[in-house]
Amino acid sequence: MFAATRIEALDKADFYDQLVQQAHGLLHGEHDRIANAANLAALAWHALEGINWCGFYFFDGRELVVGPFQGKPACVRIALGRGVCGTAAATRTSQLVADVNAFAGHIACDGASRSEIVVPLVDAQGTLLGVWDVDSPRLARFDEDDRRGMQALCAVFIESLQPRAAAA
Ligand code: SME
Repeated sequence: MFAATRIEALDKADFYDQLVQQAHGLLHGEHDRIANAANLAALAWHALEGINWCGFYFFDGRELVVGPFQGKPACVRIALGRGVCGTAAATRTSQLVADVNAFAGHIACDGASRSEIVVPLVDAQGTLLGVWDVDSPRLARFDEDDRRGMQALCAVFIESLQPRAAAA
């Protein structure tokens, strides 16, 4: 039992290592926020099993506004502090929600969503850029490995927006 869990965890870590490498290659040399967000959402959509939405909300200085994504059409604007996305943005803390129906204030864009992970996007200067959001129709689809992996994926995106950091 213990061994099986460990192997599964290693496999998942390997999976995210590869996904992060692919993201590096895909975004390399490009610094446009929309282009890189669109390609990253498409990469994740085809790589991750058991998801029904993945994409970006960008902070416009006042609230979150939907950006490039894959999945069904989504809510356009989310106030800071509202829903899972607004909570991740306001607290600048990744939100791992095993059961969206147990999360007070969850915003249901796609009624099929059962679990969700949201990672805040904060650049090296400490500026809030937005959030990365992934939904699943399965309960508890995401765990700590996903949190680490998604955070690493988001770090690639944030670095790609800064020419000097990306070139280093
Ligand atoms: N469920 C999110 C809203 C965005 S959609 O899932 C795409 C939330 O509660 O913030």
